[in-house]
Amino acid sequence: MSAPAGRTPLLKVENLGAGYGGMPVLHEVALEVYPAEMVALVGSNGAGKTTLLRALSRMLPCTGSIVLNGQELAGMTPDEVFGLGLVQVPEGRQLFDRMTVQDNLLMGGYRRHDKAAVARDLDKMYALLPRLAERRRQLAGSMSGGEQQMCAMARALMAAPVLMMVDEMSLGLAPVVVDQLMEVLAAIQRDGVTVLLVEQDVQLALSGADRGYVMETGRVVHSGLAKDLIDDPAVQQAYLGL
Ligand SMILES: Nc1ncnc2c1ncn2[C@@H]1O[C@H](COP(=O)(O)OP(=O)(O)O)[C@@H](O)[C@H]1O
Ligand SMILES: [Mg+2]
Repeated sequence: MSAPAGRTPLLKVENLGAGYGGMPVLHEVALEVYPAEMVALVGSNGAGKTTLLRALSRMLPCTGSIVLNGQELAGMTPDEVFGLGLVQVPEGRQLFDRMTVQDNLLMGGYRRHDKAAVARDLDKMYALLPRLAERRRQLAGSMSGGEQQMCAMARALMAAPVLMMVDEMSLGLAPVVVDQLMEVLAAIQRDGVTVLLVEQDVQLALSGADRGYVMETGRVVHSGLAKDLIDDPAVQQAYLGL
């Protein structure tokens, strides 16, 4: 495998299985995310990507092992997992539409006790995303799709994540907006946050990531360095229209 040699993974998933009401969806999923990496998890609609994120966040029962920073997450509640810094930016953003941008961001930090650090991080978000600073008093639901996605990412960052998992960031957004969001993600990664980018847009996610995993019908079918996956004929034929 092309994982960074000799390092301890931040997240290590082994033999993970999950499903809905007795119907299995995920089978023997294994993946690793190393500190400060951006890892892409890609696959078609229905491949099981969101189900995997739900299992990782402990919102869905699962079998197998999920270890974050050396701690086994099996048996933990979603709130406990969130408290350990495993934070999702959910598919469809799921902002509090009728709250202001600023209140959405503060909701992201509600679990943190160091309020001075929360205030510093709020300033940091506005420096990173000036568009949100301009709109801090605006209702989140009144903004454009791209701005809402920025707000959802900033809200997740306000929780001080060790691993931020972003589900379908690009869905429904214009390419120029998606490019801006990818730049924001790169800045977030440079700032030391580890990112798991979950996308149907295989080209986009692999072009921004260090490594990638390709899922089909609930299984990981390819993995490796993102640049190698982009050059892999099987990946090209199935996902890149080449
Ligand atoms: N709440 C649910 N109840 C039952 N089946 C579901 C539910 N959510 C997803 N599924 C099924 O699980 C499979 C994987 O879906 P999902 O994880 O959403 O895929 P992806 O995020 O890769 O598009 C699909 O067959 C989907 O129909
Ligand atoms: Mg999904």
